[in-house]
Amino acid sequence: MPSLSFPPLEPGDFALKLTVPVRVLEMTQTIDDLIARAQSEPAPLLPLLHGIHERDGYLSDEALCAVAKGLRIPIADLFGTVTFYHHFARVEHGFTAPRICDGPVCRLSGSQGLLAQVEGATSMPCSGRCDDPIPVLRGGQTFVGLSADALETRSTPLPPAPPTGTEQCVFRHIRDADRKTLEGYRSTGGYTALEKAVTSMTPEDVIAAVEASELAGRGGAGFPTGRKWRAVQDAQGGPKTVVCNADEGEPGCFKDRALMDHDPHAVLEGMALACFATGAPRAFLYLRYEYPETECLLEDAIREAEGAGLLGQDVLGTGHTIRIHIRRGAGAYICGEETSLLNSLEGKHPFPRNRPPYPVTEGYEGTPTAVNNVETLAAVPPILIHGADWYRGLGLGDHSGTKVISLSGDVHAPGNYEVPIGLPLRTLIVEWAGGTRAGKVIQAVTMAGLSGGFLAGDDLDVTLDEPSIRSRGSMLGAGGIMVFDTTRDMIDVARMAMEFFAHESCGKCFPCRIGTQRLTERLAGEGGPDDIVAWLDEVADLGHTMKETSACGLGQAAPLITESLVRYFPDAVRKHVSETDR
Ligand SMILES: Cc1cc2nc3c(=O)[nH]c(=O)nc-3n(C[C@H](O)[C@H](O)[C@H](O)COP(=O)(O)O)c2cc1C
Ligand code: SF4
Repeated sequence: MPSLSFPPLEPGDFALKLTVPVRVLEMTQTIDDLIARAQSEPAPLLPLLHGIHERDGYLSDEALCAVAKGLRIPIADLFGTVTFYHHFARVEHGFTAPRICDGPVCRLSGSQGLLAQVEGATSMPCSGRCDDPIPVLRGGQTFVGLSADALETRSTPLPPAPPTGTEQCVFRHIRDADRKTLEGYRSTGGYTALEKAVTSMTPEDVIAAVEASELAGRGGAGFPTGRKWRAVQDAQGGPKTVVCNADEGEPGCFKDRALMDHDPHAVLEGMALACFATGAPRAFLYLRYEYPETECLLEDAIREAEGAGLLGQDVLGTGHTIRIHIRRGAGAYICGEETSLLNSLEGKHPFPRNRPPYPVTEGYEGTPTAVNNVETLAAVPPILIHGADWYRGLGLGDHSGTKVISLSGDVHAPGNYEVPIGLPLRTLIVEWAGGTRAGKVIQAVTMAGLSGGFLAGDDLDVTLDEPSIRSRGSMLGAGGIMVFDTTRDMIDVARMAMEFFAHESCGKCFPCRIGTQRLTERLAGEGGPDDIVAWLDEVADLGHTMKETSACGLGQAAPLITESLVRYFPDAVRKHVSETDR
């Protein structure tokens, strides 16, 4: 078997400078310089830790002590927080040690074999590139490939073109040439929505238009966007804050990366409109660690927009200030949950917060905060330009608007598809994406990435809208759908899914912390009753307790995996229980 070893990257290495240009200066800065610079910006902890991590190749005890002193964080709290994240290395050269995606789709592509081939590599949970070969993250660079001798860098795939006659919202212009640049974006009306808003509309007008469009959150929970913005606008206190949630940690979801990489200004314009509507002078884009190239791209886009007077102080000469800051996570699925994300931004341990109070009244540093997903925000500029009726009319039947579905797994053309809400799932898979690979039969799909569990059998006749999917005990969520054909072992897929939830449970509440572990063991054939009725009772009981008593969506959603497995594959479950070694 070939063994690939990357040459060691030294701090300040040329390759690193090429891929992380914004941080070149940090390579030569002292910790005191880094701390002083970080303190001059809001939410300083994460950028400071990243600066040191990249400069030194790891976070040493000495560096953490200096950070704790400089930012006045109790040292035990800082160690606890840093070690919670998967990607902060505490050993030398850890930053540049290869991490290989071992998510459900990469497993199908042979990630376990690749892990064995690449020297010094460790696995990472789904890294949001399910439409690419297996990703290998190394320092500030992502490679993709199926074998160690075929790893290459590759830009994010463009969303496949939809069938003729399909009208889109967020992907309407994404395939246009030069769309990434300010000039390219402006050539098809980019930033005219912001211009219109700040020069001839009131914040109330913007909120009314978003409410009338019936746009609902595309990050998973589906909360009405206009209502959220109104609550922030109405809330007392400030300065108000907008947060773009670009954590995209749900396995099987990779739509936000496509939007940010190919249409960064649309996301920034959506954020600026959210700031104007809610009265927020500042915004953060919280980006998942596994998208290092995206960070550079967004930094460039912000610089371009600020240079053109579209962001920053005195937006378009109107006196409005809209400052957008990028903050990169460090590897933790729970940081996508909005209150964990806020704790992470604030430099605290990223546990979810108890609610109420909700972020709309007490969010970032206790100020009223609108947290919105990338796709939600990118939909706002076209809605303001084309109107609420236009957006509502994009849906099928009674449904309003569109949803981007990240489709992956055993499907001929994996990718991001913006579909009218209400489109039949089979139409998406068969007509839009060319059906399954090699014409095999679909055995099951996951919904909401992994959080919606499986759909199979007659329930594959569902339409892509929440009411239809919820009536089958699942959810559309952020729109990740992984397809598994009949050659796949669904018990194994379910075990991988539960292993992910157990790995990512933040551990704050015990039904989730222990429940995800126990369910993983049962799916792995470890322990538990050997009688099928008792086994099913125990698994149902664990799931019921988790759903009723877990503090956040992770622990509430994880049991959908076992529930749907038992519902659709009772014979396979029975066989699994009878074959378990005890
Ligand atoms: C465990 C967990 C992970 C989540 N991950 C994400 C995520 O990666 N991106 C996202 O936008 N929302 C995520 N959410 C939902 C957010 O908490 C929040 O509802 C969303 O960012 C609000 O934006 P929206 O209204 O535009 O959808 C997650 C929720 C949970 C419970
Ligand atoms: S449900 Fe799980 S992930 Fe959520 S707070 Fe509890 S332990 Fe943490």
